[in-house]
Amino acid sequence: MKADKTFYVCSECGYRTPKWLGKCPSCGAWNSLEERAESAAEKDKNPKRVSAGKTVPYKKLELSKYMRRSTGINELDRVLGGGVVEGSVVLIAGEPGIGKSTLLMQICDTLSENSRVLYVSGEESAGQLKYRAERLKIKGDGLYVLTETDTDSIIEECQEVSPSFVIIDSVQTMYCSTVSSSPGSVTQVKESTMRFISLAKGEKNVSVLLVGHVNKEGTIAGPKVLEHMVDAVLSFEGDREQSYRIIRASKNRYGSTNEIGVFEMTGEGLKEVPNPSETLLSGRPKNISGNCAVCVMEGSRPLISEIQALTSKSVFPAPKRAANGIDYNRMYLLLAVLEKRLGLRFSACDAYLNVIGGIRMEEPAADLAISLALISSIRDIPVPDDVIAFGEIGLAGEIRAVSAPELRVKEAVRLGFKRILLPKRSHDAIKKTYSLNSDDNIKLIPVKSVFEAIKILFVENDNNL
Ligand code: TYD
Ligand code: MG
Repeated sequence: MKADKTFYVCSECGYRTPKWLGKCPSCGAWNSLEERAESAAEKDKNPKRVSAGKTVPYKKLELSKYMRRSTGINELDRVLGGGVVEGSVVLIAGEPGIGKSTLLMQICDTLSENSRVLYVSGEESAGQLKYRAERLKIKGDGLYVLTETDTDSIIEECQEVSPSFVIIDSVQTMYCSTVSSSPGSVTQVKESTMRFISLAKGEKNVSVLLVGHVNKEGTIAGPKVLEHMVDAVLSFEGDREQSYRIIRASKNRYGSTNEIGVFEMTGEGLKEVPNPSETLLSGRPKNISGNCAVCVMEGSRPLISEIQALTSKSVFPAPKRAANGIDYNRMYLLLAVLEKRLGLRFSACDAYLNVIGGIRMEEPAADLAISLALISSIRDIPVPDDVIAFGEIGLAGEIRAVSAPELRVKEAVRLGFKRILLPKRSHDAIKKTYSLNSDDNIKLIPVKSVFEAIKILFVENDNNL
């Protein structure tokens, strides 16, 4: 008998290659390629069709109306674009232990009030689920629980129970007996997801919420392979050790991908943080060098946090750099700009950057605050506590305009900052429409370059510091 043909699949992204490779050329993961045999069962299988294909003239297309259901958690609804859409498939991805099961159990409370919710767990026993639900004080009138890992049995059970919402916790534990590869492999996870998608897009308009574990080792198929299949991907971010959790939509067919939801893990489950800036700034150290407050936009909301920098004389041939919450390459770029344009000797120093609260700052508007924190640390002069800064820095050291300056200024004023450094162009843009209350003693300080910013902060104020 002819042996089965073998090939290699990346367990992170599903990339397929006939040869083994140490590094996946598609996603760059190391040691993630697993050997697979192309069995007859796999070759024969035909993917289920979502609907019969038929060409329709564009003019005859009708706008589909999405029926949304609120999850009862405002922060989550906003990320979803207003609630869970009927018949949609949402993937909730995150590292193990970050709170995915907790969040889903919490939303069951509202969702099961006037419709049926089926919570399928392949990880925990019914007793464990009950224990968690009790702790979260779930009423659970229309909530049904199933501990099962066989995808086909789950689908059958769904026909019987006919729930409006199905929660699959987690998709990595599900398997289809018709597929020969082992549970948790890319093929199994993809096949199970395909079946859940068919269930969602079928006649009954079931919304499916899939939990997907992100596993850095790549031994379990990561949610990356599923991203293109589902309607929305919500990623759970944050440090397991810290209590803040951020939910971000990295893909959303029914809403914006800019929104984030901020939560705090407490003894009674995840609690919304409606005012994240205030929480992030609480307990801020006073009059310490290397710190600078910053305002970035997270979707339509301004978010204020603090950037901390630490520089110290390097004892290594190549100085050490580490960044937490800030893009590593952005840090290198800013250090190079500051060294070249201001003549500060960062190349002789180790440099560490950190954003408070486990927040990831990807917006270039954080550049100015990052640079001020670095300069403050290398010079050992604190940035005054009532100063906040935002602006993008170009390679020439110029400060470029950023979006939504007015919202940022308003948030900074609300939180009691008195001096706001902002790009000159952004200042010009809001000057006409935004006026400050002169009694509040707030100063908007337009700056054109980093040079100008440090002159204002560290030179002119030198006497006060
Ligand atoms: P869990 O939802 O099980 O994580 P995941 O499904 O993403 O793997 O919860 C993870 C952690 O949350 C767990 O370590 C315990 C903690 N936790 C609380 O702090 N408070 C709570 O009310 C609950 C239910 C969990
Ligand atoms: Mg879980």
